[in-house]
Amino acid sequence: ANRAPLRVLICDEMNPGDLDYDGFQIDYQGNMDRAETLRRLPEYDALITRSRTKVDRELIDAAGPRLKVIGRGGVGVDNIDLEYASLRGLLVLNAPESNNVSAAELAVMHLMASARGLTRSDRKTRAGEWDRKYLGMELKDKTLGIVGLGRIGSIVADRAQGLRMNVVAFDPYVPENKFERLGVERAETLEDLLARVDAVTVHTPLTEETTGMIGARELALLRPGGIVVNAARGGIVDEQALVDALSSGHLFAAGVDVFVDEPPTPDHIFLSAPNLGITAHLGANTYEAQERVGAEIVSRVLAALQGDVSKGA
Ligand code: MLT
Repeated sequence: ANRAPLRVLICDEMNPGDLDYDGFQIDYQGNMDRAETLRRLPEYDALITRSRTKVDRELIDAAGPRLKVIGRGGVGVDNIDLEYASLRGLLVLNAPESNNVSAAELAVMHLMASARGLTRSDRKTRAGEWDRKYLGMELKDKTLGIVGLGRIGSIVADRAQGLRMNVVAFDPYVPENKFERLGVERAETLEDLLARVDAVTVHTPLTEETTGMIGARELALLRPGGIVVNAARGGIVDEQALVDALSSGHLFAAGVDVFVDEPPTPDHIFLSAPNLGITAHLGANTYEAQERVGAEIVSRVLAALQGDVSKGA
């Protein structure tokens, strides 16, 4: 009973919920600056971040021997050097489910906004131009290609079917029967998918395999007038290739929630690209998702710290 509490630091913006757990001291400071995180980290048994904090070698080395668990309040763990963390014996946990609906809804929002020229019409109307000549496109009976039929991609498929779209997906890691269960056609290759769709949305993690997966060659395979959505990770769709395909008019429109470097600098090529709708990595940013994410990651990290790795991992 006199044991010192296990200490957890939450250094990124989230809704951590009730922090009052017996045997634990949880310190929440959203947006903690990096120098302070590095300085204070040696006092903690666990660190919880979102994507803002880069858990790289420098940070892991700053931690010292006390740190055992790194929790990612969200799905993607691409901000964490997993190899180095494992070399140092750190357990890395994420919150794989809590924000899936929010992420999927944001992707569908970008799809619809792209189809109807939301960004463009908003901008023009504010600038005093009442442009009613613009024609968008209906999504009903169009084909949506989903790259990555995991938790988020599956929800996007369901919502797109609600819009009466045909859905085809490419995901070599998902068994045939999941496609059948979801009523989604299976594309054997990415090329096959791209050649068949009117719009494509990516829902994969950022890995070596998926970085630049949709580049100039892939975008050229889309039929003219297509839509591209990236609400997953910056760089899965090559940034320059996307801008080129928008500028040339090959693409009808696109929507992005993510950048290779976040936040983008004021001269980022996306900011002046035509027919591109942009949000600021807001896929997980709903009241509902953040409440669940905080609860999910805190409980997984505490369970792991208690040695209950089966619950945590
Ligand atoms: C995720 O991977 O879940 C998102 O990046 C969540 C976030 O915004 O932290």
